[in-house]
Amino acid sequence: MELKNDLLLKALRQEKVERPPVWMMRQAGRYLPDYIRLREKYSFFERCQTPELATEITIQPVEQVGVDAAIIFSDILVVPQAMGLEVELLEGKGPFLPDPIKNINDLKRLRKPDVNESLGYVFDALKLTKKTLDGRVPLIGFAGAPWTLLCYMVQGKGSKTFDEARAFCFTQPETAHQLLQMITDTTIEYLRGQVRAGADAVQVFDSWGGLLSPVDFEEFSLRYIRQIISALKDVVPTILFAKGAWFALDSMSATGANALGIDWCVTAQQARKFAGNEITLQGNFDPARLLAPVPEIRKEVKKMISSFGVDRYIANLGHGILPNVPVDHARAFVDAVKEYKI
Ligand code: CP3
Repeated sequence: MELKNDLLLKALRQEKVERPPVWMMRQAGRYLPDYIRLREKYSFFERCQTPELATEITIQPVEQVGVDAAIIFSDILVVPQAMGLEVELLEGKGPFLPDPIKNINDLKRLRKPDVNESLGYVFDALKLTKKTLDGRVPLIGFAGAPWTLLCYMVQGKGSKTFDEARAFCFTQPETAHQLLQMITDTTIEYLRGQVRAGADAVQVFDSWGGLLSPVDFEEFSLRYIRQIISALKDVVPTILFAKGAWFALDSMSATGANALGIDWCVTAQQARKFAGNEITLQGNFDPARLLAPVPEIRKEVKKMISSFGVDRYIANLGHGILPNVPVDHARAFVDAVKEYKI
């Protein structure tokens, strides 16, 4: 089907655009009143596993905030779940994995799943969303990077430092590499399935990439991300977001990804210099700035676009939107991008 708004795909192909496309990481969810209402009726994984609900949630920010792309409502942790690990989502607390991976024996509890069987519900959600969107905007699929998934699979819950996960890599490197390879193989199959189901682009989230030293990032993260991007880059445009890993922008650029996501701790000028001038950059509004007054948001958005330039740029936040952002502030962010004039 012909897309009525293909700004995102143009930016991913490095084509000229009249203004940059805009979407927000974690746009489908917790700051939207209609989502919060659904949360009262269904559990988190029920919402993910029921295509009608996932579709409704995915489309909410398209209709209510006016973003130029939809991102499928799901979670990065559905992959460890499909591999056989129990994953719970505790209200107000975040992910909890009661039996995390601690040593080589624990790998026996994991399997390389048949993605059509164990993650078919995500593919069904993508198909239904694609149909319901009816070409209004492109649909983004996604997966967690192997390192970020290892963080949760080993630590068993969220953490600011993931020191148990890091220690696991340094004390049992062979086991870590085996686990990372299993996740990588599953993720490649999973993302290929998402593309077959209708994803127009895919994003890999390495939310905890910045916790590793540059040398360790190469060994425990980028090596696996490279396999994923290589397997997908001729099939679908790819976006790679490794939060905090600005030190690796040059090597991430060399993976062949169409775009790199960046956070607010690096300037547009630095990011362009490190990543090279060819690749598209995505970001990097500080999500906390969406709590500033609306005129302030508008002013800062204009500054951001001026420093990145209109071409090879996707306006976005530097990380996920915060749950306490008023919807009209999110809308002001999106509108300010749409009104941008060179
Ligand atoms: O972007 C979107 O709107 C699509 C949906 C999406 C969710 N999670 C839904 C969700 C996406 C792309 C994710 C990715 C994700 N999940 C990441 C990578 C991106 C990032 O923010 O760094 C990570 C690290 C997770 C793991 C995860 N899932 C955490 C830490 C939490 C709890 C805290 C939080 O951020 O809300 C979740 C739960 C989750 N995933 C919610 C949503 C809407 C909140 C659950 C709820 O309150 O309903």
